[in-house]
Amino acid sequence: MDGIFSSDVMALLGLLAAVLFVLGLKGLSHPSTARRGNVFAMVGMAVAVGVVLLHPEMVAYGWVVAGLAIGAAVGIPLALRTPLTMLPQLVAGFHSFIGLAAALVAGGMFLREDALGSLDGRAAVEMVVGAAIGMVTFTGSVLAAGKLQGIVSGRPWAWKGRHVLNACLVGALVACAVWFVLTLGWVPFVLVVLLAGVMGYTLVAPIGGADMPVVVSMLNSYSGWAAAATGFMLEQPLLVIVGALVGASGAILSYIMCRAMHRSFISVILGGFGAEAGTQEHRDTGAGEVRQAGVEDAAFMMGEAERVIIVPGYGMAVAQAQHAVKELFNLLSGRGVEVVFAIHPVAGRMPGHMNVLLAEADIPYDVVQELEEVNPRFKEADVVLVIGANDVVNPAAQTAPGSPIYGMPVLEAWKARQVYVVKRSHRPGYAGVDNPLFSMENCALVLGDAKAVVEGLVGGLKHG
Ligand code: TAP
Repeated sequence: MDGIFSSDVMALLGLLAAVLFVLGLKGLSHPSTARRGNVFAMVGMAVAVGVVLLHPEMVAYGWVVAGLAIGAAVGIPLALRTPLTMLPQLVAGFHSFIGLAAALVAGGMFLREDALGSLDGRAAVEMVVGAAIGMVTFTGSVLAAGKLQGIVSGRPWAWKGRHVLNACLVGALVACAVWFVLTLGWVPFVLVVLLAGVMGYTLVAPIGGADMPVVVSMLNSYSGWAAAATGFMLEQPLLVIVGALVGASGAILSYIMCRAMHRSFISVILGGFGAEAGTQEHRDTGAGEVRQAGVEDAAFMMGEAERVIIVPGYGMAVAQAQHAVKELFNLLSGRGVEVVFAIHPVAGRMPGHMNVLLAEADIPYDVVQELEEVNPRFKEADVVLVIGANDVVNPAAQTAPGSPIYGMPVLEAWKARQVYVVKRSHRPGYAGVDNPLFSMENCALVLGDAKAVVEGLVGGLKHG
């Protein structure tokens, strides 16, 4: 017996935690199993923390408890108070902590091993990798959170020399890392930390607001690799496994998101897209050609329809209109109207954003359909109700080769008999481009806050 449990039991518990994390990830792949997946992951994390605390070399419980208390005191209120619309910046903020933790562990290990005189080449490689990935993740995530929160401008940094600068920074970073491994000196180590910190900034700065969710997912991946590097440093296989799981799943998610936006991963990382979004944020799309409709008209048409498709977008999230939408769904279904929800993979500001909101409002999963499944159904729909979505129903993605969103798969809402778009103004969506749907014959805007308008529709259906 090494501690309370034998090392074999500890290894088995570690394996159990790893299996629970894998099951957790698997569960998160579908809304109907996501809750169960989260429970698996939470139990896995509890087991993992237990394994660490029961480790025979664990002596400083006071520090651990203090760390847990500080983390909980910051994390719990943040998680409880943050509205769903601010989740991407919260996630980016959390990634910055993981990056900083990895860099601090690397620094701490360097000081310790250096003082003990036990620093060797293998440990130096682990430290320099942990410090570099950690610092890139830290400064990159802080900047991403700032951009998403609007503290820093979301406009991409379009300086032409940025690719050369980044290439030079990568070269200098690699050179300093090799210098450190060969000499084990503190000067190259500090240089690695500084260069990686600058690189985190210069890698994220050129990326525009519209691509930020991909950047957050990419930083999620980096934070996983940073955690894996920390696992190597601390000789904690569980941390290596968890880090690798996060690193790989973040990379796969970034790829899936890029595919949904019809962009290459490289073009997102090199940045530049979204430059126009910054300058066109408050531009009018030509109100003259756009028709408007009243809430009563839209309610009447929906009540008379046989098939209605609802397209939720970012505006539904901002207005927190999902519960009103559920009431609308109940009323229409009660009248025998067939209602389906059409979800675009990048609707909103993070992957699964709309699925989360609709699930929160208890909308059944079987009426929620993804792009490929629902697109052929638009031509049979009597009414399409677009609630606070814009880019994801923009026909320019199919018809305007010069448009920044050209090639992005979109929901073909315009094929329906009648389209109502709920939004507050004539302003364009996140990508900052005009939406020709608004001036089509079969489309009308219902202007107003999404929640107020949907509540108006509910009232209209009840009393109409
Ligand atoms: P957007 O194109 O941003 O359109 C949202 C619309 O909602 C806006 O036109 C806005 O118009 C309206 N709106 C905002 N607040 C509202 C409120 N309180 N009530 C009513 N309407 C409101 O959103 P989308 O169609 O969901 O598209 C998502 C965009 O994000 C795409 O460009 C996509 O590429 C980008 N993006 C998303 C992701 C992920 S993973 N989700 C990743 C990368 C990029 P008004 O201001 O006139 O109200």
